[in-house]
Formats: sequence, C-alpha cells, structure tokens
Amino acid sequence: MLSKIEEILREVKNFSASSKKDIESFRIKYLSKKGILSALFEEFKIIPPDQKRDFGKKLNELKNFIQLKIDTLHSELKKKPPSKIDLDLTLPGDSFNLGSRHPISIVRNEIISIFTRLGFTISEGPEIEDDAHVFSKLNFPPEHPARDMQDTVFIEKCIDSEGKIADILLRTHTSSVQVRVMEKQKPPIRTISPGRVYRNEAISSRSHCIFHQVEGLYIDENVSFSDLKQTLLYFSKEMFGEKTRIRLRPSFFPFTEPSAEMDISCKLCNGKGCTVCKYTGWLEILGCGMVDPNVLEYTGIDNQKFTGFAFGMGIERITMLKYQIKDIRLFFENDIRFLQQFKSAL
Ligand code: DAH
Repeated sequence: MLSKIEEILREVKNFSASSKKDIESFRIKYLSKKGILSALFEEFKIIPPDQKRDFGKKLNELKNFIQLKIDTLHSELKKKPPSKIDLDLTLPGDSFNLGSRHPISIVRNEIISIFTRLGFTISEGPEIEDDAHVFSKLNFPPEHPARDMQDTVFIEKCIDSEGKIADILLRTHTSSVQVRVMEKQKPPIRTISPGRVYRNEAISSRSHCIFHQVEGLYIDENVSFSDLKQTLLYFSKEMFGEKTRIRLRPSFFPFTEPSAEMDISCKLCNGKGCTVCKYTGWLEILGCGMVDPNVLEYTGIDNQKFTGFAFGMGIERITMLKYQIKDIRLFFENDIRFLQQFKSAL
C-alpha cells in the first residue's frame, strides 16, 4: 500500500491542467466518493493495527496534498489568459449603448463640412475677449447700444495697448475672430469661425444667454456682393435641400457696408405660409454684408486694394429650423431622451 501511495503522489505532482474542466476531473478522480482516495481509505480498514498509525498519517498527508494541488491549479489558471477552449462562443454578447453627438455639434460639423468644400479654413479665438476685438475694431461707435450692460457680460477693466482703460468681457459674437484673423493674416483670407458666445439675456424658449455662432470671412482683390450671394445660396441648398431659395433684405451692422439679412424659403410649407414662418413663406437665418473699409483699416489691411464679405449665423437657430425644435433650452438641459434622437455620420 505504501508504494501505491508513493505512486499516486508522483502522479499528482506531475499533473497539470489547462482548464477548469481538467481540474474538476482531477478532483473527481482522486477525491470524490468513488475516487482513488476513498478506495484507499477502504483498504486502510483492513490494515494490521500496528501499521495503521503510519499508513493513516501518509494517507492524510496525501489527501491534504491533493487538496492543495487543486487549490494551486485553480489560482494558476486564474492568472493565465483564458484559452480558446474556455470561451463559449454561443453565449450572447454584452450589449452596450452607443452615445450620440449633440445636435449642435452635428449641425456645426455640417456647416464646417460645407464651407471647407468651398476652400474655407477654420479659425478660433478666445471666449474671454477685450472691447477692441468685440466692438471697437468692428467699427462700433463708443456709445453703441450693443455695448450696454443688457447685452454684454462684462468681466473687468484693464489698461489696453494704448494705455486707455478698456473692458474685458465675454464675446457677444464670433465676429471678434474676424478681427483676430485679419490682424494676423494677409489676404487672401477665406475662413469660418465656429464658437460659443454669451449675452446678458433672459432665458426663454427663443433665446439663451449662451449659444453658438459661425462667422464667415472672405477677403481678396475684387470680392463682390455677388460672390457673397452665391456662397450663401450654395450653403443654403447644401444645408436645407436643393429646392431652397434665398432672399437678402437690406439691414445694418456697424462692421459691414452694405449689410443684409438673409432668409431662406420655408422648408415646411415650401413658401406658401405656415405657423413656423408666420405665414411669410420665409425664415431669417443670418446676417451678412461687405466688410466695412474701416474694419480693414483698423486691422491693417489695405482697403484700396482689398474688399471682402462676412456673414454670421446662430447654430441653435439653424438646428431648430432643420429639426423643428421649438425650445432652445432643450440644447442645454442634457436630457438623454432629447439627445438620443440625433444620429449622425459627422
Ligand atoms: N455678429 C452678428 C450678430 O451677432 C452677426 C453678423 C452679421 C456677422 C453680419 C457678420 C455680418 O459677419 O456680416 O448678430
């Protein structure tokens, strides 16, 4: 019997397992009710009493050794990466939720993609700005109402490059990026500037104190109003569909001369008149015009040689028209039930 135990011990020592299944059959072979150890304990009963002590000790040692071997095999297996045999390929996969882009990002990306196809670059500027870039260099007279506390979020006063006291504020429009680009770059300039803007306004279904705009700027020799019109017509057709028509109405902005506001034909009623277009058949989407010669001069561009056009639009407004969203506040509430409805390739 002693040699039998020795042999089993050798067998156990040499055993290796590559799966849980191997370990389980090993356990069954040695430690189950009908296993090898049970049989040995049966044999133990008929052993002469004077040998019982030795055999008993050996047998118990063997049993403990096998149990230890099983524990070790299990912990070694856990450390190993799972082998192919362990994978149950018939199990259903774990499902996970794909996020979706925010509707404002979708529309911003679409606007970017349309204008980059026309050769426009993307430029960015700071959200915390100075009076010069948001107002003065855009030809706003010092007493202009847009500088009023009602519209602008002022942060602090500082001393500007000319030694005068000037305001630091949150930009109220992305036209400030125009100024930064014109100061840095020589024409030809063809760029759009998407970004966040701030206004000191009461929040309602139609206006918010934070929103997004895209500014466009094109400066070169011989740029004319008809270039502006064609660019905006192309944009409108790409954005709202081939059948879209545009109309330009005379308007006023300090930084453009002449200035215009652009409407697109109402997509919902095809220009016939409905509640969305307030029975006019038209929807206003942006402001535009020829860059005022003063702005070119303030930013160091020769206004005898170069002309340019500029335009600016609100991304929320475009998104609301495109997806028929009635309340601007939905964009800022992070309600997953609203956001999940937007899927996009961009
Ligand atoms: N900055 C104007 C606004 O916030 C929008 C705008 C109008 C931008 C006309 C322009 C422009 O570049 O030419 O309402």
